[in-house]
Amino acid sequence: MASRYADVYAGWKADPQSFWSNAANAIDWFEGPARAFDADAGIYGHWFAGGMTNTCYNCLDRHVAAGRGEQIAFIYDSPVTGRIERISYTSLLSDVAALAAVYRKLGVGRGDRIIIYMPMIPQAAVAMLAAARIGAVHSVVFGGFAANELAVRIDDCQAKLIVSASCGIEPGRTVAYKPLLDQALEIATHKPNHCLVFQREMAHAAMTEGRDIDFAAALAAAKQAGETVGCTPVASTDPLYVLYTSGTTGQPKGVVRDNGGHMVALKWSMENFFGVQPGEVFWAASDIGWVVGHSYIVYGPLLNGSTSILFEGKPVGTPDPGTYWRIIAEHGVAVMFTAPTALRAIRKEDPEASHVRRYDLSKFRALFLAGERADPDTIQWAERALGVPVIDHWWQTETGWPVAGNPMGLGLLPVKYGSPAVPLPGYDVQILDDAGHPVGAGTLGNVVVKLPLPPGCLPTLWNADHRFRAAYLEEFPGYYKTADAGYLDEDGYIFIMARTDDIINVAGHRLSTGAMEEVCASHPDVAECAVIGIADDLKGQVPAGFLVINSNVSRETSEIEREVISLVRERIGPVAAFRLAICVKRLPKTRSGKILRATIQKIADRQPWKMPATIDDPVILDEITVALHGRGIGI
Ligand code: COA
Ligand code: AMP
Repeated sequence: MASRYADVYAGWKADPQSFWSNAANAIDWFEGPARAFDADAGIYGHWFAGGMTNTCYNCLDRHVAAGRGEQIAFIYDSPVTGRIERISYTSLLSDVAALAAVYRKLGVGRGDRIIIYMPMIPQAAVAMLAAARIGAVHSVVFGGFAANELAVRIDDCQAKLIVSASCGIEPGRTVAYKPLLDQALEIATHKPNHCLVFQREMAHAAMTEGRDIDFAAALAAAKQAGETVGCTPVASTDPLYVLYTSGTTGQPKGVVRDNGGHMVALKWSMENFFGVQPGEVFWAASDIGWVVGHSYIVYGPLLNGSTSILFEGKPVGTPDPGTYWRIIAEHGVAVMFTAPTALRAIRKEDPEASHVRRYDLSKFRALFLAGERADPDTIQWAERALGVPVIDHWWQTETGWPVAGNPMGLGLLPVKYGSPAVPLPGYDVQILDDAGHPVGAGTLGNVVVKLPLPPGCLPTLWNADHRFRAAYLEEFPGYYKTADAGYLDEDGYIFIMARTDDIINVAGHRLSTGAMEEVCASHPDVAECAVIGIADDLKGQVPAGFLVINSNVSRETSEIEREVISLVRERIGPVAAFRLAICVKRLPKTRSGKILRATIQKIADRQPWKMPATIDDPVILDEITVALHGRGIGI
């Protein structure tokens, strides 16, 4: 069947207002917006201004009212605890409405912020949806972040309430969350009124009287008393959530997501991009702490009336590299989404894909990959192993849904390995040189999106309009800067090659080397430092820190390296995977004092490099090369 992509994209381009007005009909509104786009509102315009709606209503109530109540909304599959639970739309709605009543009793209302710091358990999704129900703004913090990162987020969004759990489970260890939360509350200058803590049987959290409340007991009491609350009508443009993501400094950026545009875009993408119908099973193997978890574990599948899987485990080791295939077979998954790093991990342990043959994957139609560059070798291995299309697609926390990809729902286009295919309706993707001029097909440049961004993308950063403009809109007036470098080919396929800022991608997790440098530099013996991302077979990239020690320090450098590694783990968290710190005599710099990070990276990755014309002292690069070789890198 020929793809409808070209017609649909051209239709959007010819009349974006009608395109998005039609898409908005798939959402229920308490009061419909007068028009799709208001160019005069907000920083670059607002979507569906004037509309009143509620995201929780669209995820739950309307499906139950339409007779979908007995359908399973979430399948919680947790190989790390040996549990599988199936939660119907009716049962989910009952929990969410009761938790919303608990929130209300704690004085939380429309516009108040709730931080959610939880592992991959159903209560985390319930906590998100209950916030949406009363018009509160949630901010989920990934469990692999340390107390300090949590504190920064508590302060930035001035959370009134925190919802957490006693622990998360990583293979081989239980991660106690509550001590991290307590530490974060000590560091934070803003003090939330209460913490709702879900006690898991693997670790009991000590509770602080007056502040901490048992999640399960409060929920049960609300249910027992028949306390429930309905959906608060919110403006389409009201924030649904704030999700912090790495910026170029230690201060993360609070990406704001609105209610109306977000729902319209996600609903459109579920059917037209991922090709998933209501009632089908969709699985995004990510974490609710990341944007993928927000968009495609919780909101997208529920808005679509699909069944979503909440997976608490890893692609390997829980218990074997066949876990993904077991889940697809056991729960009848039609479409799955994961990061390429997960496939690389599986392939490493099961290169012949022998585990695939243990399962019946007859309902499985497609595997989508995003979060980092999908190397053609990994895609082709998965295609051979699974016998279904393996589809690379590209987007960011900021956009909230795919910018480019091969649209399964509209009909697949020919595959070009190494490219996440074509821009989706809503996105006019262009390539500009550093001076802002368009470049021709095949020429590498800055990947930008012509304004306005489509529904679902960030309207601004939390309490930081100025930073939003400075980070994304000022460098190329009239365009949104993605901070990715890439090119468009003669057929309009996009190729994403690298970041243009200090962000690195570690196992599909987005991290700032600038933030890591801030931590390294805070060690009293470190005079200066540079952190770069070096290529890694499994994780795509891993950070490497180069440290110059103060001249008056005579301690063993290996000791300082160990301390710096611990410091990064303590301040940013284990998710940074910062395991390599190397003390060097000096850092290579230009004559104007800029550290030559890109050149160090090329040496480490054994890529061809040229001596920068502006280098201050070329000998330093030899010293760096020797230091890297000493660690078995770049040889
Ligand atoms: N809570 C606490 N700690 C966590 C955590 C969480 N939710 N998630 C990860 N960590 C810890 C890990 O235990 C690990 O700690 P360690 O240094 O003590 O071993 C560290 O953070 C790094 O974790 P991770 O990046 O997951 O590496 P890994 O070596 O444990 O696993 C993969 C590697 C590839 C299996 C894993 O990254 C993975 O499953 N990736 C899937 C991709 C994905 O989910 N991407 C999200 C965006 S789509
Ligand atoms: P995040 O905000 O964590 O989703 O990370 C977004 C960044 O990850 C993008 O700006 C890209 O640099 C990278 N990325 C995500 N998906 C892809 C992809 N399919 N191909 C290449 N890079 C990707």
